[in-house]
Amino acid sequence: MISFDAKNLLFSSQIRSGIEKSRIETYENAIREAHQEILSDRRADILGFYNLPEADTSRYTDYLKSLGDDFDTIFVLGIGGSALGNKAVYNALRTELKLPRKLLVYDNVDPLFLTEILQQTDLDRTLINVITKSGTTAETMAGYMILADLIKRKYPDDYRKRIVITTDKERGFLRQVINQEGYKSFIVPDNVGGRFSVLTDVGLLSSAFTGIDVQALLNGAGKMRMLCENTDLWQNPAYLNGLLHYLYMRDGKNISVMMPYSNSLYDFADWYRQLWAESLGKRKDKRGRDIFVGQTPVKALGTTDQHSQVQLYTEGPNDKVFTFIKVDKFHTDFEIPNLHPEREEISYLGGKKLSELLNAECLATEIAITKAGRPNCRITFPDLSAENIGAFIMLYEIQTVFTGKLLNIDPLDQPGVEAGKIATYALMGKKGFDQERAEIQEYLGE
Ligand code: PA5
Repeated sequence: MISFDAKNLLFSSQIRSGIEKSRIETYENAIREAHQEILSDRRADILGFYNLPEADTSRYTDYLKSLGDDFDTIFVLGIGGSALGNKAVYNALRTELKLPRKLLVYDNVDPLFLTEILQQTDLDRTLINVITKSGTTAETMAGYMILADLIKRKYPDDYRKRIVITTDKERGFLRQVINQEGYKSFIVPDNVGGRFSVLTDVGLLSSAFTGIDVQALLNGAGKMRMLCENTDLWQNPAYLNGLLHYLYMRDGKNISVMMPYSNSLYDFADWYRQLWAESLGKRKDKRGRDIFVGQTPVKALGTTDQHSQVQLYTEGPNDKVFTFIKVDKFHTDFEIPNLHPEREEISYLGGKKLSELLNAECLATEIAITKAGRPNCRITFPDLSAENIGAFIMLYEIQTVFTGKLLNIDPLDQPGVEAGKIATYALMGKKGFDQERAEIQEYLGE
C-alpha cells in the first residue's frame, strides 16, 4: 500500500514556516465538522465515488469477451474528467505490467493532434470509446462527429460494434444517439462528478480493455477509503494532507507542486491538477460570499525538472508546497555498466541500478528543498501496481472533498468554466446565443 510522509509539512528547525502541531490542535472542531458533512453528503448520495470500491466489474469482462480478439487498441474521445484519469492509469501501468493492449486519448480539438493520433491508429483494430457525462461538450462532440463519420463510411456493415459510448444513463444527446443507432453503452453515474469519475465506467472500461486488473484498482481504493474514514487525523492521510494544504493556503502558499520521480506517474500530476484546481478554485463560499480561494497545482517531473525548475523551487519565493512521489521498486530496470572504471567522475555510477539513481535524486531534492525551508511531503509507492494506483486515486479524491469542506466551498461544481463555454457556443453559431454573439462582436470592435 502507498504511504504518506508529512514530516516536512510540520514546523521544524529547517521548515520554519512549517505548521505547528499546536495550531493543528485548534482545528479539531473544524475537522470533526468537515467529517460530519462528508458523512451526511454520503448518506444523501452526493459523493458517489466513495461507493465505487464495491462496484461489480463483470460488465467489463462480459463486454470484452463479446469483442473477442477483434481489437487491440481503444481510442478514447473525451476531455477533462472524461480523459485525464484514463491516461493517468494506463500510463502508470502500461510498461511495468506489460499491458497487452493500447490506449490512445484524443482530448483536444487540435487538428494536428488528431492527425498524429490517426496516423498511429489501425482503425480495423481500434475500438472508439466516446466519453462525456453531459453528452454536450463541444470538444468531444466535434471529435465524435469526425470519428463516427469516418467509421460509418469505412465500415458500413459493422460500424456499430466499433463504437462504444459512456454517458449519462438517461440524459443528453448521446443517449439518444445510443438508442437510435444501437451502440453499446456504459454509464457515468449521476452522483459522481467528472473529475471524480476515473473509477467508474469512465476509466474502468478502457483500463479493463488494456489488460489492467480493475478489481485490483477498486480493492486499492477500498483499502485507502477505510484508512481515510479514521477520525484520528494522524491516521488519516487524506485529512492530514488536506488540512496541512489548507493551512498553507491560508498562509499564502498558493502553489502546490506535484513532482513524481517516475515518468509513469507523470500523468497523475495532470489528473491532480484538474482535481485540485477545478474543485477548490472558487470565487464564492457556500453562503454566496466572495472569497476567491484555491491553490494553483503545478506539475513537475523528477529528475528532468531538477534541471529546469528546482533552482526556482529552492531559491525563489517561498510560496509553494511540494509533493514528491517516489516508487520504491521498479520491476523493469537497468544496471548501469561500469564502462569507464578508471574515470572517477562517472565510475561511482557503475554497477548501480537506474532506479537507485532516480530514488537517490528524489531524496536529494527533498533534502535540498527542506534545507531551503520549503514545506514538502512524500508519497511512496512500494511498486507500480493497480492496487496502489487505486489507493492513490481514492486518497486524493477524499483529500480534495475534505479540503473543500474546510474552505467552506462546493468542491463538486465548476461555475467558472461556464462563461468560456457560452462564448464558444456564441462564436460557433449555436442557436439561442445571439445576445452573447452581439456582446462578442462589441468586444472585438466589429
Ligand atoms: O470535472 C468535470 O466535471 C469536468 O472537468 C468534466 O469532466 C469535463 O468538462 C468534461 O465533461 P463531460 O464529461 O460532460 O464531457
